Amino acid sequence: MQDKVWIFDTTLRDGEQALKASLTEADKLQLAHAISRLNVDVMEVGFPISSPADFRAVQRIATEVKGPIICGLARAVAKDIEACGEALKTAEQRRIHTFIATSPLHLQHKLRMSLDSATEMAIKSIKLARQYTDDVEFSCEDAGRTPHDDLCRIVEAAINAGASTINLPDTVGYVTPDEYAAMIYHLRNNVPNIDKARLSVHCHNDLGLAVANSIAAVQAGARQIECTINGIGERAGNCSLEEVAMIIKMRQDHLKVHTGIRSEEIYRASRQVSKICNMPVQPNKAIVGENAFAHSSGIHQDGVLKAQNTYEIMSPESVGVPSNQLNMTSRSGRHVIEHRLAELGYQKGDYDMDSLYESFLTLADQKGTVYDYDLEAMIYFNQIKDNDEQYQLQFVNSTSNSQSVASATIGMTIGGVAYQEAATGNGPVEASFLAIERVTGMQVDVIEYNLDATGQGASSLGQVDIIAKYDGKQYHGAGLAADIVEASVRALIRVYNLIYRAQQVSDLKQQRKAG
Ligand code: KIV
Ligand code: ZN
Repeated sequence: MQDKVWIFDTTLRDGEQALKASLTEADKLQLAHAISRLNVDVMEVGFPISSPADFRAVQRIATEVKGPIICGLARAVAKDIEACGEALKTAEQRRIHTFIATSPLHLQHKLRMSLDSATEMAIKSIKLARQYTDDVEFSCEDAGRTPHDDLCRIVEAAINAGASTINLPDTVGYVTPDEYAAMIYHLRNNVPNIDKARLSVHCHNDLGLAVANSIAAVQAGARQIECTINGIGERAGNCSLEEVAMIIKMRQDHLKVHTGIRSEEIYRASRQVSKICNMPVQPNKAIVGENAFAHSSGIHQDGVLKAQNTYEIMSPESVGVPSNQLNMTSRSGRHVIEHRLAELGYQKGDYDMDSLYESFLTLADQKGTVYDYDLEAMIYFNQIKDNDEQYQLQFVNSTSNSQSVASATIGMTIGGVAYQEAATGNGPVEASFLAIERVTGMQVDVIEYNLDATGQGASSLGQVDIIAKYDGKQYHGAGLAADIVEASVRALIRVYNLIYRAQQVSDLKQQRKAG
């Protein structure tokens, strides 16, 4: 029987930490469901002490998402562990992950303490965490640059204090695969109680070695890999979940281990992370990039037609890339859409058929043909379109030409009351943003604007992602429409709704404090 390597997903903690604008609770919940469908063993979903919003998101995921162990991060201090324990209370299975830096560099300059003091803090925190759960993970931050004998001392103490998983992060993505493997071997051979814990690895990708280092560590005996979908994370990112999972699946013959990942869910999870986090996937990215299964050269195409495995080591279907494309028109009924979505891996509960079908017909009338990628985009955008939103678009009417200024008229409702305003600008997008500002009376600072095409050719949908600043905080809004001005307007209105919700939460907190 082969050993199992646990997959610990940290997309919603290490991955989210690296985004320009934090995810909303609803976004996190949606991603948490996608991650749990992958059948990961553990999912780290936040750092509860870091903000009330993070605390609430961890709490909600702990209550609503079943399957994997739900984990929260805590520094090795009592208030972090208590917040984490509290946020995870309702989880069926919970883990507290506590950490402290161990490298001389971090101890001296960041923590200004000795290894002995760090060890004392680790022991106290692990014991406190054990009061909330039996499943406690301890990480030696910057283990990659920590002398092996120092690691052995603190790891032995952590296991004695009750940690059942020991994680050895290459926090700055510095080590090479042979060095990382040597570190794992050293711990396995020199820590007397090492058999009482699962060894885990957590690699950053600063030198592009995160995946190679994780696999080298598994070959040396590590049995948990910490990773993120699409490899998102601090700086150059973390080890990519889809890559390690597929390496282990495709090379079981050589590695002699397996994971529990449902590989057919990979593609969908990757697309969701990319859309919701506003992080495009590079086209040549292994496993999930647009070109990962595209054969361009004539020799390759000829080979694949004769025998697929001449140039394809795994099939697109094995990672959930839909095999064929079925194009739909306004004559396609609901059952066709439902059937196609099932083939693409979406269950009925993932979308609201009534509003999806309404959007489908509008788009089919505009474009003629609706493709798979349009359907997927609509699912996502219908989920973020909420009929109860404070700010809602009624219409946008813009004119522009190469000889004069552009103008736009916006019709919107705010709290159900209809307003209309017009403005001029350098282009139709600027004009419509100024008109929205007039309607709302609020000025947000759009600091990033990104226009992308969802689909192929001239019939693609325009997808606009903006990062906007208001009152010191950043918000991410996305909009999708056949018309790029409308997509831009929808993205900005989404930002206004996020600001409105953030204000409601803060008012509620004030009232609670006062009451
Ligand atoms: O990179 C790192 O060291 C971390 C720890 C908190 C595990 O993310
Ligand atoms: Zn990390």
